[in-house]
Amino acid sequence: MMHQHALRVLLGVGGGIAAYKSVDLVRRLKERGCEVRVVMTKAATGFVTPLTFQAVSGHPVRTTLLDPAAEAGMDHIELARWAERLLIAPATADLMARLAAGIADDLLTTLALATEAKLTLAPAMNQVMWRHPATQANLETLRGRGACILGPGEGQQACGEVGPGRMLEPLEIAEALRASAARPLAGVPVLLTAGPTREPLDPVRFLGNRSSGRMGYALAEALTELGAEVALVTGPTALPPPGVSELIRVESALEMHAAVMARAAGCGIFVGTAAVADYRPVAPARSKIKKDAEELTLGLVRNPDILAEVAALSPAPFSVGFAAETDHVIEYARGKLEKKRLSMIAANHVGGERGGFERAENALTVLWDGGSRALPMMSKAQLARELAALIADRYKEHHAAST
Ligand code: CTP
Repeated sequence: MMHQHALRVLLGVGGGIAAYKSVDLVRRLKERGCEVRVVMTKAATGFVTPLTFQAVSGHPVRTTLLDPAAEAGMDHIELARWAERLLIAPATADLMARLAAGIADDLLTTLALATEAKLTLAPAMNQVMWRHPATQANLETLRGRGACILGPGEGQQACGEVGPGRMLEPLEIAEALRASAARPLAGVPVLLTAGPTREPLDPVRFLGNRSSGRMGYALAEALTELGAEVALVTGPTALPPPGVSELIRVESALEMHAAVMARAAGCGIFVGTAAVADYRPVAPARSKIKKDAEELTLGLVRNPDILAEVAALSPAPFSVGFAAETDHVIEYARGKLEKKRLSMIAANHVGGERGGFERAENALTVLWDGGSRALPMMSKAQLARELAALIADRYKEHHAAST
């Protein structure tokens, strides 16, 4: 599906012989409806002149950070905000090392830190440099942070060697970038719950859980990237608010339930990532409980199952649940899928050495009626992107079947 507007691509050209191919890459991107602005490293200007890129992109090309004339136009922070994609081609070994380390010693690496645009890299280097453990470790770091790596290809290299390290052809890079920018959920209203809930015991105390909200926030952002209009109902978290259409802050499961049910009827997709407390204190004390008694017994009652209630609506949105299991992961998750009549469930193996609430990485097994997909251990940001793409695919099929 095509983008509604021109995709704003900031092309960073690194200092490798493949830089000459990036001239054609600008043309290929423009043919595919992208608006392209070019930034070159100092080394890149040794291979191709800025004037060449200015001519093909139709915009001035920037090469240095502290250029008063250029800063008076679109300054580097504006440029960082302008970009929807940061595409670095060719990405040299040195550039990848600086990106992985978070070094900002020139314009391009500074922009890479200052932008929230998704990073795509098209590496190009000698095959021995590519295979070097340092380069491979940097690659893993960047990939783990959600960068998309295109290539490199195998074949004859400029240095005369044969092996992996050749930059992909401009056409392949442009196509891949375009495909990754498709917005399959354009305009689809999505309701998502995230974070823990707090069940009040008295005015100062609550029963809570260890959910960080990270997976839910990352998923809210990934669904937004696919064009969805996301309303996020969140319990208390320490995270910065994600860029969504609507953010609703709640504390208890009952508040979350009310916020969700008020919005569920109109949504196309519901995703329950929240760790909703299954029970709440029967009646929270009006004033602070004093430590008079030697023993204190808490009476708890069941909370409504928000996800099950949404999935039972008629018509029900495409409903996605999460299941954290310590064992019999697939079996238990499939049981929940059926019992709660969900469209999809993402099962999370918790306990032991693997994934879970307080970690930056996770792995999921996603199940639906008649299928499944294992998403291996990766950063929560990357995992969220893969899960969002899977939700979009299944939602479209489900939608097509029901209309
Ligand atoms: N959920 C919900 N409302 C609740 C409880 C859970 O919406 N009151 C949602 C969660 O957001 C998650 C899924 O349901 O998507 C988790 O299902 P659940 O059966 O509650 O999982 P567990 O608590 O792990 O179940 P059990 O303790 O029975 O294994």
